[in-house]
Amino acid sequence: MNSLSGKTIFLTGSGGVLGTTYVRRMLDAGAKVVASELKGARYDGLHDTFGKNENFALYEMDVSDEDAVTETFNRFLGDGHKPNVFFNNASITGEMLMKDGAEFPDFANTTLASWNKTLDVNLTGPFLVAREIDRQIIGKWDLKLINIASMYALRAPHHDIYDGMPFKNFSAYQATKAGVHGITLWLASYWRKKATVNTLAPGAVFNGHSEEFQKRVSSLIMQDRMAQPDEIADVALFLSSNAANHMTGQFINVDGGYNAW
Ligand SMILES: NC(=O)c1ccc[n+]([C@@H]2O[C@H](COP(=O)([O-])OP(=O)(O)OC[C@H]3O[C@@H](n4cnc5c(N)ncnc54)[C@H](O)[C@@H]3O)[C@@H](O)[C@H]2O)c1
Repeated sequence: MNSLSGKTIFLTGSGGVLGTTYVRRMLDAGAKVVASELKGARYDGLHDTFGKNENFALYEMDVSDEDAVTETFNRFLGDGHKPNVFFNNASITGEMLMKDGAEFPDFANTTLASWNKTLDVNLTGPFLVAREIDRQIIGKWDLKLINIASMYALRAPHHDIYDGMPFKNFSAYQATKAGVHGITLWLASYWRKKATVNTLAPGAVFNGHSEEFQKRVSSLIMQDRMAQPDEIADVALFLSSNAANHMTGQFINVDGGYNAW
């Protein structure tokens, strides 16, 4: 595996399934990690797990809050951190909008509030982070920006696999994950001599799904199985490293062949 020594990596939404895997693997590979997360249990979990590591720093940040993004950049730059790799990883999924125990809405009952909330976090969040990079960092040192999309960015979901499941595939999620690659393309061109910008699109990552759901989704994946978080982290580390220096404007699927079928 490539060494990440010399890299300082800033991530949003660092306390989720993939975020915590990225943080662990990046620290193991010799990077400094500047993590951010919403206030709450996931922030506390990151603090408990990695807080004693001298190469780890943690900030509270809501990516959809314009002032909070600016303040967080001011804070970590003021603390002497100089990230040269950024991950726009924070995301609202359809499942997160059901936290109150409400039934997952079908399309006809999708509220404007849940649509807007998803756009605020998944699309406006990456814009706010990128704009702050442009205002405060771009041109001062070389950097890489990695925007996280999904296997459901450029390929349609098979709605049938969600029949009878407690969750469905959420329309706004796909719209934002396709949109985030638009941000990647625009910025890769805008910053072309100053930064590389790529989209990493994870496939279906196993996270305690039922046997039935695993069977249904796996049947759509060439490798006939869901991904382990470390398999996505392998590529996140590669994209953070100097081995990816000549890649920019790319959409990288790590999905066991879902998008190729
Ligand atoms: N897990 C998968 O199967 C999968 C597949 C494809 C793409 N992805 C993408 O990978 C990324 C990470 O996914 P994950 O599985 O770790 O998801 P997750 O839900 O476990 O983590 C997402 C994190 O984002 C944080 N977050 C939500 N709203 C936020 C806000 N306003 N500001 C800051 N942080 C906020 C959450 O607190 C959470 O910790 C996401 O962008 C997701 O869309 C995941």
